[in-house]
Amino acid sequence: MTGDDLREKFLLFFEQRAHRRVESSSLVPRDDPTLLLTNAGMVQFKPYFTGEAVPPSPRLASCQKCFRTTDIGSVGNLKHLTFFEMLGNFSIGDYFKKEAIGWSWEFVLEWLKLPRENLWITIFLDDDESFQYWRDLGVEAGRILRYGEKDNFWGPAGETGPCGPCSEIHYDFGKDVGCGRPGCGPDCDCDRFMEIWNLVFTEYYQDAQGKRTPLPNKNIDTGMGLERAAGLVQGMGSPYDTDLFAPIMKRVSQLTGREYGEDEKTDRAMRIVAEHGRAVTFLIADGVVPSNEGRGYVLRRVLRRGHLAGRSLGKREPFLREVADEVVISMKHIYPELARGYAHIIGVIDNEEKKFLQTVDSGLNVFDLTSETMKSRGEGRVSGEVAFHLYDTYGLPIEVLTEVAEEKGFEVDMEGFETEMEQQRERARAAHKFTLSASIDLAATVSVEHVPRSTDFIGHARLRNRSPVVVLLPEGEWPEDRVGSISEGQNAGIIVRETPFYAERGGQVGDTGEIRGRKGRFEVANTIKQTVRGSELIVHLGKVVAGAISVNDDVELTVDESRRLDVARNHTATHLLHAALRQVLGEEARQAGSQVAPDRFRFDFTQEAPVLEEELSRIQQLVNENIRRNLPLTKKEVPYAEAVAEGAIALFGEKYADKVRVVKVGPGKVPVSFEVCGGTHVSRTGDIGFFHILSEGSIGSGMRRIEAVTGRGAEALVEERISTLERIAHRLQSVTSEVEGKVEGVLGELDSERKRAVALERQLSRDSTEALMSQVKSVNGVSVLAARVSASDIDILRHMGDLLKERLGSGVIVLGTVWDDRPNFLAMVTSDLVARGLSAGEIVKKVAQETGGGGGGKPLMAQGGGKDVTKLEQALESIAGLVEGKV
Ligand code: SER
Repeated sequence: MTGDDLREKFLLFFEQRAHRRVESSSLVPRDDPTLLLTNAGMVQFKPYFTGEAVPPSPRLASCQKCFRTTDIGSVGNLKHLTFFEMLGNFSIGDYFKKEAIGWSWEFVLEWLKLPRENLWITIFLDDDESFQYWRDLGVEAGRILRYGEKDNFWGPAGETGPCGPCSEIHYDFGKDVGCGRPGCGPDCDCDRFMEIWNLVFTEYYQDAQGKRTPLPNKNIDTGMGLERAAGLVQGMGSPYDTDLFAPIMKRVSQLTGREYGEDEKTDRAMRIVAEHGRAVTFLIADGVVPSNEGRGYVLRRVLRRGHLAGRSLGKREPFLREVADEVVISMKHIYPELARGYAHIIGVIDNEEKKFLQTVDSGLNVFDLTSETMKSRGEGRVSGEVAFHLYDTYGLPIEVLTEVAEEKGFEVDMEGFETEMEQQRERARAAHKFTLSASIDLAATVSVEHVPRSTDFIGHARLRNRSPVVVLLPEGEWPEDRVGSISEGQNAGIIVRETPFYAERGGQVGDTGEIRGRKGRFEVANTIKQTVRGSELIVHLGKVVAGAISVNDDVELTVDESRRLDVARNHTATHLLHAALRQVLGEEARQAGSQVAPDRFRFDFTQEAPVLEEELSRIQQLVNENIRRNLPLTKKEVPYAEAVAEGAIALFGEKYADKVRVVKVGPGKVPVSFEVCGGTHVSRTGDIGFFHILSEGSIGSGMRRIEAVTGRGAEALVEERISTLERIAHRLQSVTSEVEGKVEGVLGELDSERKRAVALERQLSRDSTEALMSQVKSVNGVSVLAARVSASDIDILRHMGDLLKERLGSGVIVLGTVWDDRPNFLAMVTSDLVARGLSAGEIVKKVAQETGGGGGGKPLMAQGGGKDVTKLEQALESIAGLVEGKV
């Protein structure tokens, strides 16, 4: 039974039992801000369990793409995978324990034909009901084990959500496998037992405090790992031995030149390469891109780990794209998104792997220097401190360091390294202070006891407000006690209770403006947001320009209004642009990031193929049309789930709070644009004025960027372009409407001017060649012409040479000329004379040498230059002698 058969049989089995087959959802949970990646089949059904949404059928079955970050470190062993396919059947308030247990047993015994004697059952401590159902199916009491919360209670997936006690089916590989300890059972970490199917009796909802309340219904959520099940039915036991992994393992073997199964150490590395190569392919296909946080960081970590495993097998070049290529080939018939995203997937992997290689290389360069010093001092051990420094400062992975150190005959103090790592973790934990850093030169810290409550942002509604100062953060180290006031000339951060200033977020720049107190004035150069111990603090960064500001002062905060409006125009335009891109290029074009400033904005989006000129101008037109329609914008706060259910576009990879702000452009049910967005916007699209694209181009990895202007920025651009055009018209003594024709005319004139000049010079050279023919000498019957000529460039010189050659039929021609006060030579020898041993290359070499230079070339034609102009004639005169000696 192939993996494909198994997947199909499972779904069929449950379809025959009235389940509806549901497609796998994305690895990026669509509407679940509490979850990094889809880690179970039930994730897409969460709203059905909680009662927030109604399922299309109370019985569902799926094969779900899953990713488990918790297992990254275990990958390499025979059973753990980060990415896997999970088969599952689900009941939403329909059947419960009896049917779930009965069907799982039937499928395992009769459809998969797993031997009964190898199977064990686990149940939750007090679940006598399940115990009885298993007994009724003929399972011996001794084969049904009871475990607690750690093993037999599942969920929630994420921080909150549905969960419940569970019952599992385990496969026993026999007493000879694994740890052999007396207490070894299905809960043991060794290789003897493998969990194959988990049946969750989803009865509870767990909130953020860990409190459980009953769900509206009793539900079923089961999960069986496809790769593990395939491993068992195909007889070898491990996912890596199945047909699901076979082509990938084969490619890894070709890439590394190792045979799988030869040696446990290389086998392990091969499994890591295969598993991680497969996992990154699926992550990228679902829209994850490498970064330093969240999903992007998971991707980066797995990709690096995969690369390092390949490195231990001798790969020094990027290679993961090859693995991805095989994954796409072998799995695209089930997951067509792999084929659709092929170029993007390969591009991202290649790019990221190359970047990582550079990091490793620069780390190794530093280690090279360090090791030289160590050698000269006769040291043989890399201290934990040095290893940590290389890791922490240069990003050099410890695995790479130990390997290279070993090659050079050093050992690495791993214990010392671990101690350093632990100390760093300790430092991070103990950090009772946080640091602010921003575009202005300010770094201040505040002790954690003084973290105020979140700042209220009221800047959607108004741009001016009075509020008391809560904390002052003067530049430099924060003293033990709070700072009471700051005075003229001091850079600082100010936190108030309630502010109209928008803090840099979601690509939109922070506001600038002024904070005025009774005794002083502060200019705000930027506004940022920092989360400290759960408080979202808005910090106004800037400088006291007069007097002093103190804590508790009731200050007036005023946002620079025209700048804010410029920013708002650009921000609303990004939404219109996003909508127009999707309309013209298709839904695959997705926002990947943006930067919204007052004078212009930048919009990055996913798109493989270049955008055609017609498409770009269509996009620009659409945006301007929507501006002219003067559509109203509506903004409101709604629960995230509701926003997504209504079709609001949320940024990929972005984590949202429970309640989000949605921005809708245009009235009614089919708005022009509908996005989750916390930024500031205009109230009607007409306020944007005018939109113009400055540039569009690739920024690598299947990503493109558009830069554009609106409003005042667009006006300035148009003005500047027009006045440039006017200046040009003036210079051409013309008017703008005729400039183009005029320029064409001038260029045409220039061109014919140039042609005339060339023709003239050719004519002249023809004349002078005639004159030169009189200087031909005969040397032992060979015609030799060595003469000084004037020619403006090499083309003319060659042209003269060609003419002379034609005239001579057979002979040696050497022309000398002076460019920039230096002698230059061109030599030509006709082929009959080359056959007699003469070579233009040799001749040029000789004359060039005589004038203090060098040169050479082919026997038929050569050129070269010297230094000393006074020797030119003398050099030319020597030619006759040279020829004489040869023929
Ligand atoms: N949600 C459970 C699991 O992931 C069963 O599907 O194990």
